[in-house]
Amino acid sequence: MSEQTGETRQTVSHTETLIRSRLRDREPTHAGKVREMYDLGDEMLMVTSDRLSAFDVVFPTPIPSKGRVLTQLSVHWFRTLPAASPNHLIAEPDVRWLADHTDEPELHVGRCLRVRKCDPLPIECVVRGRLEGSGWKEYQERGAIQEHALPEGLRLHDALPEPIFTPATKAASGHDENITFEQAERIVGSDVAAMLRRRSIEIFTAARDLLAKAGITLADTKFEFGWCGDELLLIDEVLTPDSSRFLLPGPDGEPVAMDKQFVRDWANRSDWNREYPAPELPEEVVRQTAERYREIARRILGWEVV
Ligand SMILES: Nc1ncnc2c1ncn2[C@@H]1O[C@H](COP(=O)(O)OP(=O)(O)O)[C@@H](O)[C@H]1O
Ligand SMILES: [Mg+2]
Repeated sequence: MSEQTGETRQTVSHTETLIRSRLRDREPTHAGKVREMYDLGDEMLMVTSDRLSAFDVVFPTPIPSKGRVLTQLSVHWFRTLPAASPNHLIAEPDVRWLADHTDEPELHVGRCLRVRKCDPLPIECVVRGRLEGSGWKEYQERGAIQEHALPEGLRLHDALPEPIFTPATKAASGHDENITFEQAERIVGSDVAAMLRRRSIEIFTAARDLLAKAGITLADTKFEFGWCGDELLLIDEVLTPDSSRFLLPGPDGEPVAMDKQFVRDWANRSDWNREYPAPELPEEVVRQTAERYREIARRILGWEVV
């Protein structure tokens, strides 16, 4: 993607994209749509690539800096938001640590996290604070989202009276399915379901209020939790543009989504049938998407992720 020849090696490698991580003498124990997880014995290494998925299909074209944006935002929240603890973050490995584990340490720097090895719960903990996306569609059809009846007359992007917990199953293959709180209770037990709901809403509310002060609207987000012994830890990625809908005021007053909406819009206009394999993304779509990811990171972190 980057043609910045003639720069220092550091700069060049920082602008290279990572489609798939490579550790020395080690295969990932899990390769998801975006990340590879490596078993390091007592702990795990979570590597976030520059892959982008939409409609649950991974595109062949990487988005420069995306993996670093997701990693650095997650680290920020794991470390600074009290409600986001306890969580799985141990440390971000430095280049020297990476040099012991991969032949391309500079390509991996900024996108790797050493995390505690957990047993992920099979539920995605979604919190919605506004009417967006599938929630808006459901509200128009039924005046409710799952079991949450909502007041009449709400419009797209409107705030809900209070944030709602709308879990989904983690489908091993294919699309996640929304479930009611009662179904979640049946899957993980009532006590755990109540704990997941309480913690998810607490994290969402704390982040929403902080972001609002910076002029960013957090519309909805998804958390994952996992057991580490008898501790329930917040795991995976947190409050990133892949897991959340961040809105900024647009020039015409309409909110602009700082995420992969640009790719979804392009895909909807294209003749791709939303099934594997996805087509290469045009350069302009890649550029605009990378810019959105970097811009939201810049606003939240106060520095430039490259
Ligand atoms: N600390 C952890 N211990 C074990 N598994 C984890 C941990 N953190 C995240 N995971 C799991 O690693 C995977 C991350 O890869 P990802 O590409 O996001 O997968 P997916 O395609 O399912 O979204 C997820 O399945 C997530 O549940
Ligand atoms: Mg994921």
